[in-house]
Amino acid sequence: MATSVRMSVTVYGVHKSAEVEPRLLLVHFLRETLGLTGTHIGCDTSSCGACTVHLDGEAVKSCTVLAVQADGGAVTTIEGMAQEDSLHPLQEAFWEHHALQCGYCTPGMIMAAADLLERTPRPTEAQVREGLAGNLCRCTGYNNIVGAVLAAAEHGRRGAARRPASTTPT
Ligand code: FES
Ligand code: FES
Repeated sequence: MATSVRMSVTVYGVHKSAEVEPRLLLVHFLRETLGLTGTHIGCDTSSCGACTVHLDGEAVKSCTVLAVQADGGAVTTIEGMAQEDSLHPLQEAFWEHHALQCGYCTPGMIMAAADLLERTPRPTEAQVREGLAGNLCRCTGYNNIVGAVLAAAEHGRRGAARRPASTTPT
């Protein structure tokens, strides 16, 4: 039996600490240890992007990262994107542009798109398509997703609304 190790992360500003097995994947840590089930598992083989989160400001597929690799880091999941009384601009744009059907891919799409717009605030359509190439959608045909990301960029609604880190321990 693997020996557990203590690790901690800051999840949208809140300090979280837990004992985990060294082999535990970050996506399972988020979903099962922290109960943040907004991050989805589509393939577990790094193909679909449904598990995309931000780790220290970069989009990562959380099924490709061990939880202990995030020790001491800052994680943002889809649960941390909306503000108290309003959706994140990308969430609004996905809603307005009908950029989802079943919604399974949507959390990962939004986290990948937020990272894209953080790095490239005014992307071309080709840059959006390239930026989301690691995220698969089985429903929409992608056009509305690309349109939503372009609309968010056009309105200056880039995904810069990441929560400032706080040091509140739990
Ligand atoms: Fe991580 Fe598919 S579940 S890429
Ligand atoms: Fe169903 Fe993308 S909306 S997989």
